[in-house]
Amino acid sequence: MKLTILGGGGFRVPLVYGALLGDHGEGRVTDVVLHDLDAGRLSAVARVLAEQAADVPDAPVVTATTDLDEALRGADFVFSAIRVGGLEGRAADERVALDRGVLGQETVGAGGIAYGLRTVPVAVDIARRVARLAPDAWLINFTNPAGLVTEAMSRHLGDRVIGICDSPVGLGRRIARVLGANPREAWIDYVGLNHLGWVRGLHVAGRDELPRLLADPDLLGSFEEGKLFGTDWLRSLGAIPNEYLHYYYFNRETVRAYSRAEQTRGAFLRDQQARFYEETARPGSAALTAWDRTRAEREATYMSENRETAGAGERDADDLSGGYEKVALALMRAIARDERTTLILNVRNQGTLSVLDADAVIEVPCLVDANGAHPVAVAPLPGHATGLVCAVKAVEREVLAAADSGSRATAVKAFALHPLVDSVNVARDLVDGYTAVHPGLAYLR
Ligand code: G6P
Ligand code: MN
Repeated sequence: MKLTILGGGGFRVPLVYGALLGDHGEGRVTDVVLHDLDAGRLSAVARVLAEQAADVPDAPVVTATTDLDEALRGADFVFSAIRVGGLEGRAADERVALDRGVLGQETVGAGGIAYGLRTVPVAVDIARRVARLAPDAWLINFTNPAGLVTEAMSRHLGDRVIGICDSPVGLGRRIARVLGANPREAWIDYVGLNHLGWVRGLHVAGRDELPRLLADPDLLGSFEEGKLFGTDWLRSLGAIPNEYLHYYYFNRETVRAYSRAEQTRGAFLRDQQARFYEETARPGSAALTAWDRTRAEREATYMSENRETAGAGERDADDLSGGYEKVALALMRAIARDERTTLILNVRNQGTLSVLDADAVIEVPCLVDANGAHPVAVAPLPGHATGLVCAVKAVEREVLAAADSGSRATAVKAFALHPLVDSVNVARDLVDGYTAVHPGLAYLR
């Protein structure tokens, strides 16, 4: 089985390859094709993968190419993990927004819109090529903003594109852990958009255990979301929000903390990864050791400003292991080998949330089998959550329309309608600021 990874020179590729190395079953991935625009990054990552595979006899064969069509032909699965504009682009997304007093983050608010506007045209081009060159392939989208990018691709690939994120899995795992339940045995009642969802229940043996958590301040305050949001707010909500809702519920504080930070997250990662790729290019360097050190530092500093504003302290050791690769591998196995499972994924709504149309991509538990991901019926969201979901989906739709038409006015509309952008004037200013720094936005007229 052939797996093509777009963004194959990306920093997180060794996580995926590490997960593949642990799979020895029949029908596993035997060939990995890495595609990237940057040959230097490809060879750096290929060196890490070679070290990872050193003692594994049946390790998937890795090849690398900068030719996209060649990479796609004959693929059974395509992982799309591209980063349009690189981390320099991410840093600019953050800076332009923060300079105008609004949130600069890669998936939420103004920064997420800018990243979406830059990424959608490229993602659509990829989707069209996949439809033409590998029509039977399944495309698993890792690229942020994951819900929006998945929806853009679904217009060309239908339900053959599935978006993934590890945040809901991490959240479910943390809640199960504090409740003393086995995450594998728990049914997690979660729904929303990517980075905008809520756990409303956690059922074990037919009983909802979430009320027990909400009623116990010590338990509730003992894990990441309890520390981030505060126990009182979680009890008021009667649900546990995805960590990214911290940017909504504590917008003023997060914007202030992000503005004061010495470097934005994107700038920090840009410098950190530049050092890694430089080091790995040197002959004789220990590529895997350098990668692992860099990865650990990235994990430890994830959302550090948010945790600081909330006084949440360090991350739990159990939360440092990531999880993207696990979700991706579980999804691929379920489809390729008909190993039925349930995963929280980004798929077309198809009536799951009645307030959204059938084609809107949402994040929801799905039954996955050889026929793909099938969203499971969930209880409706409460009014406050429905309001946010509808507002943000409307913004995503304006982003898709702007990418489609190239209309600058539509791009302004996308920014202006976002709940975290507080003025139409600011929206205009954001579009001016972003088009000035991003060559990838020159299409907006
Ligand atoms: C979480 C999010 C991802 C994000 C990742 C890394 O897992 O769900 O969407 O890409 O964190 O964030 P970072 O700030 O380290 O790039
Ligand atoms: Mn995510």
